[in-house]
Amino acid sequence: MKNKKAFGWLLGLAALVLVILPFLPVPTGPTSDWKVFLGRFHILLLHFPIGLILLLAGMELWTFYKQETKRPKALNILWIAATLSCFCTILAGFLLYQTGDYQGSLVRQHLWGGIGLGLLMLVTYYWQSSTASKQQITNASPSSWSTKLYPISLLSLIILVVYTSHLGGSLTHGPGFLTEYAPQLSTSTAVQKPTEELLIFEDILLPIFEARCQSCHNPHKTKGDFLITSYSSIQAGGKSGKAMLVSGESAQSELYHRITLPLQDDERMPPKQKKGLSEDEVTLLKWWIEEGAREQMQWGEGPPGPEGQALAGRFLPYFNQQQKKWVKEEQELAILTQKLDYLGSKLGLVIAPDPNYKGLFSVAQTIPPATVTDETLHSLRAHYHLFSKVSLPGSEITDDGLFSISQMTALQELYLPKTCLKGKGLAYLSDLPELKTINLSYSLLSDEGALHLLDLKQVEKVYLFGTHISPAVWEAIEKFSPAPTILAEEGPYF
Ligand code: HEC
Repeated sequence: MKNKKAFGWLLGLAALVLVILPFLPVPTGPTSDWKVFLGRFHILLLHFPIGLILLLAGMELWTFYKQETKRPKALNILWIAATLSCFCTILAGFLLYQTGDYQGSLVRQHLWGGIGLGLLMLVTYYWQSSTASKQQITNASPSSWSTKLYPISLLSLIILVVYTSHLGGSLTHGPGFLTEYAPQLSTSTAVQKPTEELLIFEDILLPIFEARCQSCHNPHKTKGDFLITSYSSIQAGGKSGKAMLVSGESAQSELYHRITLPLQDDERMPPKQKKGLSEDEVTLLKWWIEEGAREQMQWGEGPPGPEGQALAGRFLPYFNQQQKKWVKEEQELAILTQKLDYLGSKLGLVIAPDPNYKGLFSVAQTIPPATVTDETLHSLRAHYHLFSKVSLPGSEITDDGLFSISQMTALQELYLPKTCLKGKGLAYLSDLPELKTINLSYSLLSDEGALHLLDLKQVEKVYLFGTHISPAVWEAIEKFSPAPTILAEEGPYF
């Protein structure tokens, strides 16, 4: 009986330790070597509780299900081993967490998962041992209350083990590590875009142009100074300066005109020796232009009547092919999104899809903000081309960091207010073709640095509120800067 009490106290004390752990602060500054040394044992130890708890819970459930009166003796030893290894793993994991090498929401979730698992383990163990001993003394069958709850708590243990180790796996290998190469048979039908919602231009016409025209009209080989890679590039036209798409007027649209010229005509596109568009494809293009040549027009608004239906029937195999491609792209994007989210959480950043530009991402501060330096930006280098927006107000980004930013070729918006930027690095940004907005309010922008803004011909808006540039320089940039609107406003931070 005395032992029993001591056992209860011991489990209670262990539970108390676990509850306190997540509330201890992560120390900043250098970590002691022993912490790193012991902490790293987490990676080794964790395999024990995973195996032992699954085995234990499985065996317990089995004896419960079979209503065996004699529990195997091995179970008692298993309980001790599983609980002890679980507790040690959590302690080591906590030390690893305290080194500060791991940060972000994923780590916090993993920590809480571990603590929850440890607590449930202690409670279930206590419960199991007290009912078992009661049974031995009174030889009574366990109350119905415990018969129902006990298996539930065992099942919860299994779920928590799987959940926590999955989070841990994601931490070391990145999210989607397990599922990345899983066969995608089931999902490919689940997330299909309905045929009605296919975009006539992007999903149907553009792939046709891709196959028939892009060999000569692409960024590396732009015949007739005409690029056929997107809606806007077609609109922009080519050497002749003729309007490519005239809404409602296929005959006036140069694009359509060139495609429908007789085969022997020199101006016919594609040139003679190349395979041209099919009759159906030409019909669809004509119909789309006559109906306004809108980028967002969907197949659901497509050609009406029997002609439309016949056309839809003949395009069906084409749609299926498009669907597959579309689904694959969506899946790749989903994986990329997960990867970047994970990378962000490791670096103390929020990296999320930019709702305005499909396939591109925004980089922002966490709340509360973590320390973000030039070094942090450098860690993103493998993905520079994917960022459309960088918003790091109050960060420690310097002029050197702008060199990293200058390689983000898709960047549209840059928000760096309240930073120590002096402006020397702004010169790097002149090659970013899409950059439209810069916010440098309350930065340490110098007169000399501010003059580099004159090189940024592509930029449309610059916010300079609260900087200390002299009135003369301010006037000079306002006067001589080619396009930018210099704004004496604080401007948005995101
Ligand atoms: C084998 C190469 C080749 C292919 C394939 C090709 N083109 Fe061209 N394209 C040219 C050349 C060369 C010119 C410039 C000479 C000219 O204007 O005819 C040109 C010019 C054009 C122009 C005129 C641009 C301007 O404003 O001067 C249009 C429009 C055009 N192509 C459309 C297309 C379309 C649509 C397709 C696909 C159906 C296509 N081309 C496929 C070689 C090609």
